Amino acid sequence: MAKFCKICKCNSRLICMCLLPCMMTGHLVVYITVTIFVTISYAPPKITVHYVASGVSANSSEMASHPLSPFWNLRLVDSALWNRLQHAWDREHNPILRGNTTGLTRKPKNELLSEIEKECISDCMSQKCSVPLMKEYKNFPDQIKAFVWSMHCRDYQLLVNQPDMCRSNTSDSGFESPMLLMAIKSQVGNFENRQAIRETWGRSGLVKGQSKKKGGLVRTVFLLGRQDSSTGPHPDLRNLLELENQKYGDILQWDFRDTFFNLTLKDLLFWDWLQEYCPAAMFVFKGDDDVFVRTGALLDYLHKQLEEHNQREINTNKTDINLFVGDVITNAMPNREPSTKYFIPARFYKGVYPPYAGGGGVVYSVSLALRLKKVSERVRLFPIDDVYLGMCMRRLGLTPSHHPGFLTFDLPETDRGKPCAYKSVLLVHRRSPKQMLTLWKKLQYLPGKC
Ligand SMILES: *[C@@H]1O[C@H](CO)[C@@H](O)[C@H](O)[C@H]1NC(C)=O
Ligand SMILES: *[C@@H]1O[C@H](CO)[C@@H](O)[C@H](O)[C@H]1NC(C)=O
Ligand SMILES: *[C@@H]1O[C@H](CO)[C@@H](O)[C@H](O)[C@H]1NC(C)=O
Ligand SMILES: *[C@@H]1O[C@H](CO)[C@@H](O)[C@H](O)[C@H]1NC(C)=O
Ligand SMILES: *[C@@H]1O[C@H](CO)[C@@H](O)[C@H](O)[C@H]1NC(C)=O
Repeated sequence: MAKFCKICKCNSRLICMCLLPCMMTGHLVVYITVTIFVTISYAPPKITVHYVASGVSANSSEMASHPLSPFWNLRLVDSALWNRLQHAWDREHNPILRGNTTGLTRKPKNELLSEIEKECISDCMSQKCSVPLMKEYKNFPDQIKAFVWSMHCRDYQLLVNQPDMCRSNTSDSGFESPMLLMAIKSQVGNFENRQAIRETWGRSGLVKGQSKKKGGLVRTVFLLGRQDSSTGPHPDLRNLLELENQKYGDILQWDFRDTFFNLTLKDLLFWDWLQEYCPAAMFVFKGDDDVFVRTGALLDYLHKQLEEHNQREINTNKTDINLFVGDVITNAMPNREPSTKYFIPARFYKGVYPPYAGGGGVVYSVSLALRLKKVSERVRLFPIDDVYLGMCMRRLGLTPSHHPGFLTFDLPETDRGKPCAYKSVLLVHRRSPKQMLTLWKKLQYLPGKC
């Protein structure tokens, strides 16, 4: 009797030890199945906006096409508008949830919707395609309203083009390859700034390096939108602009209102132009027309980067250089002060900004610009251009590099007149046209004892 009971006890313990893991595994399997099922079957709440990602191509393997934040975050129903719109795109472009990457270009299920989308592409500004009045839309400030109204629109006609800016009939590809293409955001009325830049740091042509090293070919273009009665009380300067362009041939102008919240468009449209008309350039400086750049020193810096890159990649045969430098700001919060021009309401964007290069200008390589152009097709337009570039960089899984030579906040007041104080400066914000001329002259020959 006693013996039998011992066996029985032993058995039940054995059963327990076998059964428990089995049951736990079973539960786990059920849990995973249910989770996957929920994930796949969950359709994000319909935001009735008739947007379409223009030109998303099947060749997306080199991009981080999935969101880098956890996409398991399924429900963003009551989040901010931009986050929700981006979330919808992220799901749409998620290769895990949406099968293979060729599936990305699949037709939308709803044929009716796709018809509307087609029309919208051809006619961005039509009433039909604008954002249907969502609840929160009414309460946005006017600037944000104007932005939301047209944020699905990225194609604007080029009114003034420079198709031959980088054309060469001596090279095989038909393009000459400037070392540095300067793309400067300007406005129609800022003639004096442009002229000062042409005469100083933005002069087109062969430019010597600061330390009498190689230097390189520099080309300069100015990026303009439309400035007329729709952007405020502006005198009609069209004839003047035409004259200026005849003389200098360095104006790019697109058909959109040149406002602060439309500046991001200049980046996107410039990338389109770059790809088509100047793809053989090596680096781009993108900046404002009220900064001062030490072009020679910048060329030296770029040569150094190239040398280092070539040494690093000597074995891998990788020619593309990923360079993105500027005055990098990390962990910035959106400006919530309604009276400022950077104001972003919490109902429009939630969260911290990704690291971005702020201030008057950044330098990036053209190969990176072309990757940014591609990934930007999956990032909703954001009203602040610097932040938008940061968002695109994050999508590529890259971080902008900080360079202490980019001075967004200028030198200490007492040093501004001293040439030696500029020794390690690449860019300084801000300088008036007159200051540019004086400073340029002063910095031509930095005393050797600096
Ligand atoms: C994808 O890339 C390959 C090689 O990079 C190219 O040959 C092909 O045409 C591309 N396809 C599309 C749809 O862009
Ligand atoms: C990917 O999707 C396309 C179109 O939906 C389909 O033709 C193709 O067979 C799929 N490829 C794979 C590997 O599943
Ligand atoms: C390049 O083209 C221009 C105008 O099209 C022409 O005047 C010039 O002679 C050409 N140069 C060469 C080297 O072919
Ligand atoms: C941007 O430009 C478009 C086209 O001109 C215009 O409809 C829109 O209102 C502008 N956006 C802002 C924020 O000014
Ligand atoms: C680099 O790769 C290209 C294309 O694969 C090849 O033609 C070229 O010879 C390679 N260069 C070196 C230095 O390996």
